[in-house]
Amino acid sequence: MEMPLTQHISSNRPALHLKDYTSVGGYQSVHKALQSLTPQEVTKMVQDSDLKGRGGAGFNTGMKWSFVPMNTTGQTKYLIANADEMEPGTFKDRLLLEGNPHQLIEGMIVSAYAIQANISYIFLRWAYKKAARLIQTAIHEAYAAGYLGKNILGSGFNLEMHLHTGVGRYICGEETALLNALEGKRATPRTKPPFPQVSGLFGKPTIVNNVETLCNIPHIVNNGPDWFRGLSPGSDAGTKLYGISGRVNRPGLWELPMGTTMRELIETHAGGMKKDFRFRAALPGGASTDFLVEEHLDVKMDYQSVSAAGSRLGTGTMIILDDQTCPVGFIHNLEHFFAQESCGWCTPCREGLPWTEKILLSIENGEGRQEDLDLLAMHTRYMGPGNTFCALAPGAMEPLQSGLKYFRADFERHINEKNCPWR
Ligand code: NAI
Repeated sequence: MEMPLTQHISSNRPALHLKDYTSVGGYQSVHKALQSLTPQEVTKMVQDSDLKGRGGAGFNTGMKWSFVPMNTTGQTKYLIANADEMEPGTFKDRLLLEGNPHQLIEGMIVSAYAIQANISYIFLRWAYKKAARLIQTAIHEAYAAGYLGKNILGSGFNLEMHLHTGVGRYICGEETALLNALEGKRATPRTKPPFPQVSGLFGKPTIVNNVETLCNIPHIVNNGPDWFRGLSPGSDAGTKLYGISGRVNRPGLWELPMGTTMRELIETHAGGMKKDFRFRAALPGGASTDFLVEEHLDVKMDYQSVSAAGSRLGTGTMIILDDQTCPVGFIHNLEHFFAQESCGWCTPCREGLPWTEKILLSIENGEGRQEDLDLLAMHTRYMGPGNTFCALAPGAMEPLQSGLKYFRADFERHINEKNCPWR
C-alpha cells in the first residue's frame, strides 16, 4: 500500500474495518511473509531497512529482533506492542490505533512470525478507551478471517493476540516495568541485561516494540528495504509521524519523510506561530528531551541530526515554548509530572524528582535563592544516565539541564525580582 509522503493524520477519521483495509492492500504482507519468506528473511529485510524504534530510543529494530534465540522449537516466545503512550505531548500512537488498528495487527503478525513468537499482547494505555474498543473489534475480525489463531493461511504458524489495558502509570511504558505489570506484579523496572530479547515476559524471549515501529513493518515487507530507505533524504530511513503542540496555528500530526526540518514542521505544516506569540524553544520529542532553540530551526528532525544539536528526536512530537509562557513554570510543570510518575523503585528518582520540583516551584513563586541554581544543576548530574534503574529520571533531567542553559537569565530574574515576570 503506497502512501503519499505528506499525510496529515486527522483525529476524526473513521477507523478502517477489515474489509476496507484488505480492499486497499491490507494484510498483503502477512500473505507474502508467511507464504514465501522465512522468518530470517523477514528479519533481514527489517534490518536492511534500517528502521529505528519509534517509541523514543531509536534502537535498530531488526538488530533487536536478531537477538532473539532462534532454532528453539517448542519454546514460548512473546511479541508485545507497547501502546502505553504517556509521554507528555505525544499522541501519535493513539491516532494510528484509532484510525487503523488492523495495520498494527498486521505488523504484529509479521513481526511475531519473524521471531517465531506464538503469543502476542497489545499493552494499551488505560485512558485510550476508544482505541481499546476498536482494537478489540479488529482482533475479533482478524481471528474470524484466519489471520490470527492456528495455522494462519495454512502456513503452520500459530499466533494468539490479547489486548491488555494498563493502569494509567507512565512507568508501565518502560519495557521491563511493562513486563512486570503484565505478569501481575508491581510495575517497577528490571535491570538490563538481561534484555527482554533473551529473558522477558515470564523469563521467556520477548520483543517489545512501539506501535509506530510495528506499523512500518507491513510496508517494509511489501515494498522492500531499499524503498523504505529511499523515503528519507537524510541519514535515518523511512517516514516519521511528527506532531506539534503549543501556540501554533494548526497543532497536529503529520507523516513526513524522516529528517524534515523543525522550521518546515512549524511554518509549513503547523501554519506558523499564532498571532502575537513568538517561538522561543521546542522539546523535539516529548517532555524527556533537551530544548532546541531558534538557532536549531533548520536542524533535520532525525536521530543523528537532533543528537548532534544536543537533544534527542524522542517520540518526534514537539512541544513548543512561546515567549508568553514562563520557562520556569513550563519546566516546573514537566518536573511535577515526572515526580508524580516516579515509581519509587530507586532512590535518586524517588527522592530527587520531588526535591527538584519543590525547588522549581519556589523559584517560580519568587522564593528562590541563587544557590538553588547550583542545586538544580547538581540534580541533573545525580539523576543523569547510569545513576537510576531506568530512563525516567535521566529523561526528566533533559528539559531541566537545557532549560538552565538557555533560560538562565529568566531563572535569575525570578530570584532577583522575587517574582515571576510572566505573572
Ligand atoms: P533503551 O535505549 O534502553 O532501549 C531501547 C530498546 O533497545 C529496548 O527495547 C532495549 O531492550 C533495546 N536495547 C538497548 N540496548 C540494548 C543492548 N545493548 N542489547 C540489546 N537490546 C538493547 O531505551 P528505553 O529505556 O527502552 O526507552 C527510553 C526512551 O523511551 C526515551 O528515550 C523516551 O524518549 C522514550 N519514552 C517514550 C514514551 C512514550 O510514551 N512513547 C514514554 C516514555 C519514554
